[in-house]
Amino acid sequence: MKVLVIGSGGREHALVWKIAQSKLVDKIFCAPGNGGILKQAECLDIKAEEIERILEFVRKEKIDLTVVGPEAPLAKGISDEFRKYGLKIFGPTRLAAQLEASKVFAKELMKKYNVPTADFKIFDNPEEAIAYIEEKGAPCVIKAEGLAQGKGVIVAKTREEAIQAVEMIMEKRIFGEAGRRIVIEDYLEGEEASIIGVTDSREFVTLPPSQDHKRVFDNDAGPNTGGMGAYSPAPVVNRDLSNKIAEEIIYRIIDGLAKEGIEYQGALYAGLMITKDGPKVLEFNVRFGDPETQAILPLINFDLVELLWATCEGKLTKFKKFVSLDWNDRACVCVVCTAKGYPGEYEKGKIIYGLDKVEEMKDIVVFHAGTKKEEDTARINGTQAHRFVTNGGRVLGVTGLAKTIKEAIDKTYKAIEKIHFEGMHYRRDIGRRALNWELVGRGK
Ligand code: AMP
Ligand code: GLY
Repeated sequence: MKVLVIGSGGREHALVWKIAQSKLVDKIFCAPGNGGILKQAECLDIKAEEIERILEFVRKEKIDLTVVGPEAPLAKGISDEFRKYGLKIFGPTRLAAQLEASKVFAKELMKKYNVPTADFKIFDNPEEAIAYIEEKGAPCVIKAEGLAQGKGVIVAKTREEAIQAVEMIMEKRIFGEAGRRIVIEDYLEGEEASIIGVTDSREFVTLPPSQDHKRVFDNDAGPNTGGMGAYSPAPVVNRDLSNKIAEEIIYRIIDGLAKEGIEYQGALYAGLMITKDGPKVLEFNVRFGDPETQAILPLINFDLVELLWATCEGKLTKFKKFVSLDWNDRACVCVVCTAKGYPGEYEKGKIIYGLDKVEEMKDIVVFHAGTKKEEDTARINGTQAHRFVTNGGRVLGVTGLAKTIKEAIDKTYKAIEKIHFEGMHYRRDIGRRALNWELVGRGK
């Protein structure tokens, strides 16, 4: 089978790495991919959003399965185009992708189908939004309606911060058209967790629960990023809670969408706050998480391609009957190394040292995100050599697998010590929150 993966980040490297282990697969392509992905796949000079060009390639090359990483091509309708030609694609249609692309759509759907989430109000006029904040007070959370690369959410501690957020989003349009409408919602307290799985619009296969670390500095300080690291399984989601989340959140959404006439096939990601009143939805994503995927895929012991294929065929019920979904005997941690300045402006082209040393380490894998492979730039003892340079904000996801989260953390940080590039930054506390929960007992 020939598989094409769309995207260029650490998530796509993890997908390609896992797909390469499948017995069903002969060849993998990635559009556009990155320096690290070149090891397992042929990278194409086609961007993730160039739907026409992707389609042309898939038809010419007779690709059997296309797997979409990021949300943008889904929101632009890549799956709809593929379906017109009867081509297999893993990822929801444009209408279904509204679940992520429009926070208004998602909140209204949750309300209609009784899915627990923070109380909210929608505004398309800044004066009314400000009047509401004056009346209601803080803390509260201001969300731009549309896609803003995970940055369109402002948690306001004070009334002034909230008002400023409204002005920035609706008047100054810091997130462009994404800020035409906003959602203002109640602030929720608790522990965050991500539940990611796949659905064929009837059945849901849940993957190990995970936790992301969104802020750029240790102890959750500094601005939000795309994600600085993740670990899995997240012990805050034990088996009972996992069942409750499936029943009260996931199936209600899938069934709700179906009632609205929307078939959903692909990855479904629920960002949750586990509050003292139970799990509540912060957001839905219509794709795998980044960097959660890097921490999840090393844990699963079945063939990922079988899962993706069964999703596209609408046969997840059958898949579930035959595949063991047990992952509680291991833990995985992914720490993201970023370029200096990220999530703001950053430089590219810094040489990355030490990757060869880490390659020798057992149960460590480095998923590349913003990297580029440079050929022929150096010659060692007369033989051809290559090197990797930085080419993005999030550069690498150093990932360690072990029996417990504690061991996985130690192993991962040992590996990171061997890697270096100018201005490299990473958080030193990834996974630390899990340790308190581990003492309480995991997966029980
Ligand atoms: P989102 O993109 O909607 O998941 O929001 C990004 C981050 O903002 C989340 O990971 C939370 O840390 C925070 N957040 C979003 N909504 C809320 C809320 N209602 N209460 C508290 N924190 C929130
Ligand atoms: N890690 C957060 C996301 O993928 O949206």
